Amino acid sequence: MNLQAEERKIPMLDLRLEYERMKEDIDRAISKCLAHQSWIFGPEVRELEEKAGAYLGAAHCVGTSSGTEALVLALRALAIKRGREYFEKEDEIITTPFTFTATGDAILRSGATPVFIDIDPATYNLDAARLKRYLEAGPGRAVGILPVHLYGCPCDMKEIMALARRFDLFVVEDVAQAFGAAWNGRRLGTIGDAGAFSFFPSKNLGGFGDGGMLATGDAQISAIARMLIKHGGRDKYNVEHVGYNARLDTLQAAVVLSKLGHIEELNGRRRAIAALYSDALSQVAEIDPPAAPSGGLHVYNQYTIRVRGISAQGAGAIGAGALSGLRQTGLRDGPREDLQGHLRQRGVDTMVYYPVPLHKMKVFYGRCAVPYMLGESEQAVKEVLSLPIEPFMREEDVLHVARLVSGFFSS
Ligand SMILES: Cc1ncc(COP(=O)(O)O)c(C=O)c1O
Repeated sequence: MNLQAEERKIPMLDLRLEYERMKEDIDRAISKCLAHQSWIFGPEVRELEEKAGAYLGAAHCVGTSSGTEALVLALRALAIKRGREYFEKEDEIITTPFTFTATGDAILRSGATPVFIDIDPATYNLDAARLKRYLEAGPGRAVGILPVHLYGCPCDMKEIMALARRFDLFVVEDVAQAFGAAWNGRRLGTIGDAGAFSFFPSKNLGGFGDGGMLATGDAQISAIARMLIKHGGRDKYNVEHVGYNARLDTLQAAVVLSKLGHIEELNGRRRAIAALYSDALSQVAEIDPPAAPSGGLHVYNQYTIRVRGISAQGAGAIGAGALSGLRQTGLRDGPREDLQGHLRQRGVDTMVYYPVPLHKMKVFYGRCAVPYMLGESEQAVKEVLSLPIEPFMREEDVLHVARLVSGFFSS
C-alpha cells in the first residue's frame, strides 16, 4: 500500500460533501427564511409536511422537534384516542432492545411498559417469529408494537401487521433511520398506524439541527399530534392535553425540504456504496455484510457489518499484521475492537451502533419486561461495526476501507 493511501483520512460522515452538492438549493431556501422571518410555523413547515406526505404516501404528516418527540407524540396520540392521557404501566408496547435509547424511552414517556423481544440476527430487527411466540403465549397485556427499521433496513412488515391485526394491536414504526425505505412497494412509516422520522443531521434525510416528523393515515392521530406539539391545545388558551413544545422549526423544515427533492438520488447512492462494500467484502469469511431482505428496499442509513471470528484471547488465527496493530492500540476486547483499532490507526473512523442493549441500561431497570432471553441482541452489541457511508463518498474511498478490512484478516 502506498504512503498516500496509508495517510488518507476517512471520517464516519462528512456532512460538508452533501452540503457542497446541494448548496445552491439549501442557501436559497435559507435566504427565503431570512427574508420572511416567519420562524415558528413558517410556510416551509407546511410545505415539507405536504411534500413528504406525497412522497411517502401518507395522508397526514406533522413536523416535530425531533424523532424522539415524534415517537412520543404518536404513542400519546394513541393513548388519547383511547380516552386516556397516558397509557397505564400494565399496558405493554413490544419493541427491540437493539436500538437507540429514544425508542424505549418514548414508551416509558407514554406511560406504558416496554417489552423487549429479541432480534433476527440476520437483519438486527425485531424478530417476527419471536414476537408471534410471545403474543400467542403472553398474558395479553400488549397494546402495541414498535418495530424499528434499524440502519434503514425494513422489518418484516407483512408478518408484524398480520400479528397486529390478529391481536388487535397498534403499530408505530420507528423510521428514524429509514426515510424512503420500503416494504413490498410501500414506504416505511406509512404501513402501521403511525411512523416517526428523524431529521437529525446524520440521518439519510437530515437537517442542520434537530427535527423530525410524524406520518399517519389516521386523521385523529394527526389532529391530536398537532395539538400536542403546541402545548396540547387547539390554541394557547384552550389546552386540553398535557402537551409539549415540540414543533419543527421553520429553518430545519427549509433545509430538509431542499434535500427532500434529492432523496431518490441520495438513497440510490447509499445503495450503490453498500453494494460496492458488500461485493468487496464478500470473500472475507470473518464478516457478515448487511442482509437485504427480499421484498424490502433498504436505504443504508448505516452500512453495518458483523465481525465474527475468534475472540481476541485466542487470537491465533488473526494474521501477524493484525496482531501488531493490536499491540499498538491496546484494544483486546474482541475481534470487532481489534478491527476498529486497526482502521482507526489507518485514518478510518467507524462506529458501534449500539454497544449496549436497552434492557442493560439503568433507566429501564424495573421499568421494562424481558419475557425471554435476548441472546441475539447481546451478541450483536459485541459484533456490529458501522463503516463510513454517505451519498457522496468517493468510490475509491469505499474500496480503500474495504481493502483495509479484508487486509486485517488476511495479513
Ligand atoms: C432508531 C432511532 N430512533 C429514534 C431516534 C431519535 O431521533 P432524534 O435524534 O431525532 O430524536 C434515533 C436517532 O437518533 C434513532 O436512530
